[in-house]
Amino acid sequence: MYYEDDLPAALSFDPFKAIVAPRPIGWVGTLNEDGIPNLGPYSFFNAISTRPNLVAFSSEGMKHSAANARATGEFTLSLVTYALRDKMNASSAHLADGANEFAAAGIEMGTSRRIRPPFVKASPAAFECKVVQTMELTGLDGASADSFLTIGQVVAVHIDDAYVSDGKFDAARAEPLARCGYRNYAVAREMFELGRPDGPAVPV
Ligand SMILES: Cc1cc2nc3c(=O)[nH]c(=O)nc-3n(C[C@H](O)[C@H](O)[C@H](O)COP(=O)(O)O)c2cc1C
Repeated sequence: MYYEDDLPAALSFDPFKAIVAPRPIGWVGTLNEDGIPNLGPYSFFNAISTRPNLVAFSSEGMKHSAANARATGEFTLSLVTYALRDKMNASSAHLADGANEFAAAGIEMGTSRRIRPPFVKASPAAFECKVVQTMELTGLDGASADSFLTIGQVVAVHIDDAYVSDGKFDAARAEPLARCGYRNYAVAREMFELGRPDGPAVPV
């Protein structure tokens, strides 16, 4: 199968998001300009730099998380786990601006220290982030993709000590959830080590 612009008849749905998978899910916590908390999951999300640690999420359309982050300069990211899958999904409901998805989904808020937006208290790990850059994405033709990228710098990290062993974050124990296109998700429970051919003895 090969195609460029039009999907072949054999494909009923664009597989793009099933091919770029599994994608981590950034659970974005923000405050609107009135200080009302907002929470939403974003799988167009990833770590994009270290030194400093930078993360990015993309909003298809100017959704509340992106608008709030741009307006206030702050957001949190909570790790979505298998145990939190239903609460994450509930928090993706399209609620009106100013509706608190933490409250609507029965999610307890954790208190940030360096920024104002809350995070998901039950999550094994969460970042406090300050917005470095926001941009409207375009296609090759320069026309707006109506997608908005928010880049943030991690300024504080919360980790539940129960998920730290041998000086490392025990990601397998946390069972992070990932998005796989269509209605599919994956959960990472098994991990294995692979040293880089010319890498350091201590993994990075
Ligand atoms: C697992 C998951 C991942 C999602 N990823 C994205 C995404 O990357 N970009 C996006 O615009 N919407 C995404 N959505 C949809 C938003 O979460 C949904 O539109 C939500 O209402 C946005 O909330 P907000 O307006 O409070 O930010 C995703 C939904 C789910 C369940």
